[in-house]
Amino acid sequence: MKTPETREDLLDALAEVGRMAVGGGLALASGGNLSARLPGSDEFVVTGAGTWLDRLTPADFSVMTLDGDVVGEAERPSSEWKLHQRTYQVRPDVNAVVHLHPQHAVLVDALGHPIRLITLDHAYYVRSIGTVPYFPNGSDELADSAAEQAREHDCIVLSHHGCSALGADVGMAYRRALNLEEAATATYRCLAVGDTGTTFPPAAFADLHHA
Ligand code: 13P
Repeated sequence: MKTPETREDLLDALAEVGRMAVGGGLALASGGNLSARLPGSDEFVVTGAGTWLDRLTPADFSVMTLDGDVVGEAERPSSEWKLHQRTYQVRPDVNAVVHLHPQHAVLVDALGHPIRLITLDHAYYVRSIGTVPYFPNGSDELADSAAEQAREHDCIVLSHHGCSALGADVGMAYRRALNLEEAATATYRCLAVGDTGTTFPPAAFADLHHA
């Protein structure tokens, strides 16, 4: 995925992630929404309401300001536009937000178990996981709670709903979402064989983010 220099580059990257996310089962039909901005910009592009992530064209995106105004393209942004907007407001380093509905992440959280970071990639990409309780889709509570968690975490589970994965670019946000779901799948398998907590990550994982 090349470094984006224009808005078209962002749309290309998001459309590619949309295809991969649906193909990989991280979103179904028109579930999920994606956004990105050029570094330092006070505008972002976000998928329109009801769009299918594996069929995105440039006309399927709304252009929005960080104040929440639609200033271009699709008139109806995703019902979750506040989730994206408020995350950008608190994280100037974040240029992409990927909101998907990964099955195992949602299931393990709903079962009341923490998602375990078992492999090197889980630890490197996911780093830590925030959670927010269930709030209705599109609500201020959901957007504000997720933004609060985003101050500390790049991966956030939205209980009984989905996840929000953040990155400095679209590729990193998607890698995080993928690794979050893989960690949740591994956790689910641990639980399925009756292991409720003996798989601990190597202590050296703590050094990964201080190198
Ligand atoms: P939108 O089609 O409005 O983006 O909603 C999909 C979704 O996943 C809501 O959480």
